[in-house]
Amino acid sequence: MSQIASRHLSFADYVAARRGDVDRALERWLPAPPACPPALAEAMRYAVGNGGKRFRPLLALAAADAVASASGGGETARADALRRALPIACAVELVHTQSLVHDDLPAMDDDVLRRGQPTVHVRYGEGLAILVGDGLLAQAFGLLARYPADEGDAPLLARKLRVIAALGDAVGASGMVGGQAIDLTTTGSCRPDGAGAALDLDALSDMHARKTGGLIRAAAVGGALMAGGNDEQVEALSAFAVRVGLAFQIVDDVLDVEGCAATLGKTAGKDAGAGKVTFPGLVGRDTARLMATDAVAEAEATLARAGLSSPYLTGLARGVVSRRD
Ligand code: IPE
Ligand code: IPE
Ligand code: MG
Ligand code: MG
Ligand code: MG
Repeated sequence: MSQIASRHLSFADYVAARRGDVDRALERWLPAPPACPPALAEAMRYAVGNGGKRFRPLLALAAADAVASASGGGETARADALRRALPIACAVELVHTQSLVHDDLPAMDDDVLRRGQPTVHVRYGEGLAILVGDGLLAQAFGLLARYPADEGDAPLLARKLRVIAALGDAVGASGMVGGQAIDLTTTGSCRPDGAGAALDLDALSDMHARKTGGLIRAAAVGGALMAGGNDEQVEALSAFAVRVGLAFQIVDDVLDVEGCAATLGKTAGKDAGAGKVTFPGLVGRDTARLMATDAVAEAEATLARAGLSSPYLTGLARGVVSRRD
């Protein structure tokens, strides 16, 4: 790991250093030929690519770092926490990328642009895009079972199992996949008569918590667990990430209305075109932005109460509201 845990890195330098760690580890942990067929390996690398913000892995690492710092750990303890959290940071990015590849398919949001490039199905065809998603999901869980190597360390093994369970819950039918299913019902594509389901604000918040918030929560909780966080610390980071996750999807909905493809790296105006239920659609853009800002403020207050405030977690949370892509 580069500049593992210098206490004095600015937020921008910290993000650049941790991003480098994540990108190198992803390259190392992605399947490669000859074990993996070359066409699939290439398409998986294309999907994971370099264009993503890496928000979720950065959150996992910052959560681990905050726990190590709050527990009085010095530089070595922080470096250990980051090393142990790197597999969950990468696993979350693999699952996130899988969700994007499948989200963009013609049968779902039918998008042609992602991270500033043609979507995986446009570049490699629908069949391979489906398999890229399947491969990324499986790789994420295999990676978590193997790393960090526990070498008979029973407490570490127990933490790894909790992390695997948390990720499985976050992305499964009660989490992300469930949220995506609710999303589809709003467009009517799940019914023969094509009627879209209406959602009120509570139902929309629930959908966002599932389809986006769960994975963001799993990142923070996973990082905290791998750093050896106690129940109170893990719970505080979970509550922090639930709020940040809601803000993340509210802002995503707003950017779909306000943004343009050149900045977003994905097609703008997709939600209204598909008849999606969104925050700006239900409460208007200004109120939606205020709700996102409030959620981030609450998230920060939760951390402060638990003694886990960190400039890196704060920077990531505030960046959710100020981002342009
Ligand atoms: C987009 O996520 C999908 C949502 C859950 C809103 P990101 O905005 O994190 O996408 P990348 O990883 O930076 O491309
Ligand atoms: C995506 O929500 C959520 C998941 C991929 C799980 P969106 O459909 O709004 O994401 P974008 O706008 O295509 O990135
Ligand atoms: Mg979608
Ligand atoms: Mg989409
Ligand atoms: Mg969107």
